[in-house]
Amino acid sequence: MINIRMEKAINEQINAELYSGYLYLSMSAYAESQNMSGVANWLRVQAQEEQFHAMKMFDYVNERGGTVVLDAIEKPRTEWDNFVEMFEEVYAHEQKVTALINNLVEIAMEEKDHATFNFLQWYVEEQVEEEANASGLLEQLRFVDGKGSGFFMIDRELKTRVFTPPVAE
Ligand code: FEO
Repeated sequence: MINIRMEKAINEQINAELYSGYLYLSMSAYAESQNMSGVANWLRVQAQEEQFHAMKMFDYVNERGGTVVLDAIEKPRTEWDNFVEMFEEVYAHEQKVTALINNLVEIAMEEKDHATFNFLQWYVEEQVEEEANASGLLEQLRFVDGKGSGFFMIDRELKTRVFTPPVAE
């Protein structure tokens, strides 16, 4: 059975993952309002990924005999100055999530909770990909200065992203 400290920390992370999804969905709505449907699609798929991250923790807490307690989700920002600025925020946000995951790993070590330590390794790896995706896209957007025909080509490419749930382990 999961202990109280670990359970509380994972419940907080479920909220952080849901907030991440909410933030990306808000960015997606803004991109749609600017007729950038590829960017909007990429962010919408990203929001689905965040929902998946939250639900994987939701299932884990239940599996370990704990109780999932959902808290209010903070209101996300609704407007950005431009898409370079938006993706700077995406990248910074993912770095923040990595720090939160690392903190959870440290709690698992302190609590000698080997099962949770193992469970969290999936997120440690996932964050490497999350940061790489965000920073890669940010670099591309910076390269074209977030506008012009280069940006339209990037937008067209981002239309092709689809959500693929990772295979259950
Ligand atoms: Fe759940 Fe984007 O990290």
